[in-house]
Amino acid sequence: MSSPGKLPGMVTVLDSPEAMAGAAADWVLEAAADAAAASGRFRIALAGGSTPRRLYQLLAASPRRERAQWSRWEVYFGDERAVPPEDPSSNYRMAREALLDQVAVPPAAIHRMEAERVDLEAAAAEYSSMLAATCPPIGTEDVPRLDAVLLGLGENGHTASLFPGEPVLEVTDRWAARARADYAPFDRITLTLPVLDAAARVAFLVAGAGKGEALRGVIAGSVPAARVRPIQGELRWFLDSAAAGAV
Ligand code: 6PG
Repeated sequence: MSSPGKLPGMVTVLDSPEAMAGAAADWVLEAAADAAAASGRFRIALAGGSTPRRLYQLLAASPRRERAQWSRWEVYFGDERAVPPEDPSSNYRMAREALLDQVAVPPAAIHRMEAERVDLEAAAAEYSSMLAATCPPIGTEDVPRLDAVLLGLGENGHTASLFPGEPVLEVTDRWAARARADYAPFDRITLTLPVLDAAARVAFLVAGAGKGEALRGVIAGSVPAARVRPIQGELRWFLDSAAAGAV
């Protein structure tokens, strides 16, 4: 018998998707305040998919928007689909509409994955180099250390665009890489596991009973999301009661 309490890291269960989004938004602001106080910058990788949309909207709305020091934010993306940035399935478009167009993050501090490019390998390699150039390394490793990473959880246990059985799961020397999904859009760019594990804080956002099997897969260690284990960082799970009840 599994339970949410068997997930790795700290688990917070909220009554509704709205309450979950609010709790996660407050977690982001706390991470941002800590990072800005420590280094003057807040480097965050945003999650794609649909679950984070409400979190982003809450960050862009009062009272949270006034609490954030947007000029200190450096925005990255956990993954992107191989579509133009204005495509309805673009993770960048979702974040731009829900958050980035509403707040004063400097455009030069928004690092979009150019997954619309024909040469996805080159686009991923450039994103990897940019991460190394704009993020401090973690300790003695040369892996870029983000202050916060937001992640979703797919029903098959994928996260970002790290899908079951895909070679990208074994990449250890690049911080972003080409990836392949098992649903359209199939071609992707994703952050790799070393970058996720080097982050100071990682939070999964999981809502709905449909994620129960994936959560059990995390507990069993049998899905890609189970491999996200921050080396020197915090791992949080924000679940709504429907997801928690389905574990
Ligand atoms: C993507 C996302 C992906 C997403 C999960 C959960 O580009 O598809 O990065 O990893 O987070 O599939 O998606 P939902 O939040 O829509 O359930």
